[in-house]
Amino acid sequence: MSNASRSMIPASQHWHTPDWHFEKIGKEMEVEDKARMLGVVGRMAAQEVPDLTSIDWANELATFPEVEYPTYYQQPFHSVPGGYLTEQAASADRRAMEAIYQDFHPRRSLGIRDELAKLIPADAKKIADLGSGTGDAAAAIARRLPDAEVLGLDASPFMTIAARHQNGDVVNVRYERGFAEATGLDDDSLDAIAITLVFHECPDKIKQEILLEAYRILKPGGTLVLTDTPTDDLHTYRGFYEPYKEQWKAFAPETFLAAAGFEGAEDRSIAPPLWSQVAQKPA
Ligand SMILES: C[S@@+](CC[C@H](N)C(=O)[O-])C[C@H]1O[C@@H](n2cnc3c(N)ncnc32)[C@H](O)[C@@H]1O
Repeated sequence: MSNASRSMIPASQHWHTPDWHFEKIGKEMEVEDKARMLGVVGRMAAQEVPDLTSIDWANELATFPEVEYPTYYQQPFHSVPGGYLTEQAASADRRAMEAIYQDFHPRRSLGIRDELAKLIPADAKKIADLGSGTGDAAAAIARRLPDAEVLGLDASPFMTIAARHQNGDVVNVRYERGFAEATGLDDDSLDAIAITLVFHECPDKIKQEILLEAYRILKPGGTLVLTDTPTDDLHTYRGFYEPYKEQWKAFAPETFLAAAGFEGAEDRSIAPPLWSQVAQKPA
């Protein structure tokens, strides 16, 4: 990636949100049919979530080294000015997930996490959740497989900090800041990888890079569980800015998985409305 498409963001400071974020968000809000988005926002207040208000953000952010953030990531995802590089995104994440999925499982998004964790092979010992957000999926995997070592990796230090607080009671998971397309993990080192609700936030080129990286770090015979929202879903969330929704509409997971070298891709959707594809790195 060229230097022009990246910018340095001192992790110890809050990102200066550019004006164009507010323009994009404002434009998206102009649409008339915002019913689904307003429904989620309306349900958010009623969710029971951990209290993250005691987090000393400045102090914790200061422990993360500076990194260059690529342009594709510096977007106002979900109409949050500053996107994932904000306290707002991290603090509201569990609440939003619970509100979005409250009608799909008796235990809402956390119940969906527990279902998805069943797709990770029971004998997996080293597992990574790439793009782990505030950590609930990685924690569900770690709770289900107490003998495994689970790494939750997310590009945002804010999401990583919230994950550590929100799931601090789970001993066999750790959360680190890092890019899914450049994890720094060793070749052939993991038994299983989960990627959940990340690809709809990435341009196609990055989806490809992430799958190539997942292939590199999985052991031969290792399992990838790719889970995301239906490809026509983003178009019904009018009012929430989603930068890659046109590419998402055309996304064909089997094609991308095969192009990265994975085999045996199978639809194992067990937690509607999400779909899951499970595939292997050849043994
Ligand atoms: C919609 S959230 C999903 C988080 C989590 N997997 C879940 O299921 O709740 C998308 C997450 O992907 C992360 N993300 C997006 N692109 C990434 C990348 N290239 N590398 C690492 N994390 C990334 C964002 O920071 C954000 O936390």
